[in-house]
Amino acid sequence: MGILLTLHILAFTLWIGGLFFAHLILRPVLNQLLDPPLRLTILGQVLQRFFHWIWISIFILWTTGLALIFGYHGGMAEVHWSVHTMLTLSLIMTLLFIYVVFIPFPHLKSMADLPKASQALGTIRKIVVINLSLGIIIILITLLGKWSPL
Ligand code: HEM
Repeated sequence: MGILLTLHILAFTLWIGGLFFAHLILRPVLNQLLDPPLRLTILGQVLQRFFHWIWISIFILWTTGLALIFGYHGGMAEVHWSVHTMLTLSLIMTLLFIYVVFIPFPHLKSMADLPKASQALGTIRKIVVINLSLGIIIILITLLGKWSPL
């Protein structure tokens, strides 16, 4: 159990910490210093590298999470309500990430059409905010849920 939980924690730290850095640190600095074409090119390349790590994080989260549920806790019926919430919200985060990778991100990466690339970045930014919020909510619910009497 210890190793699964450790991997689980490392995986979501990577994903949520990366979203926090991209949105609250990197984005405002690039907005302030760079004009759109260069800013969009840099963000496209930064996100492409980050997305590889998010795929790895998602793979580890789901495999360790399911292993904990079915291998350690004895199935969905046995786990605390906070784990059901974690699973549901993680599913939304995962689907939103897959949407970003396949729908808006290709426009940003190709940079063939500047207005479209800029629009794609706007969509990605909104989803980053949603996923960052969901990630923080999951952590709060899971950790506070453990100590709740419910
Ligand atoms: C971004 C997504 C996720 C976040 C932020 C997250 C967060 C957490 C946190 C904070 C814990 C508590 C660690 C501790 O005990 O100290 C935990 C444990 C756990 N997570 Fe997740 N998790 C995520 C995704 C998932 C998924 C997808 C699954 C299932 C498929 C899952 C299943 C579990 C299970 C079974 C535990 C152990 C609960 C226990 O033993 O009480 N998690 N997770």
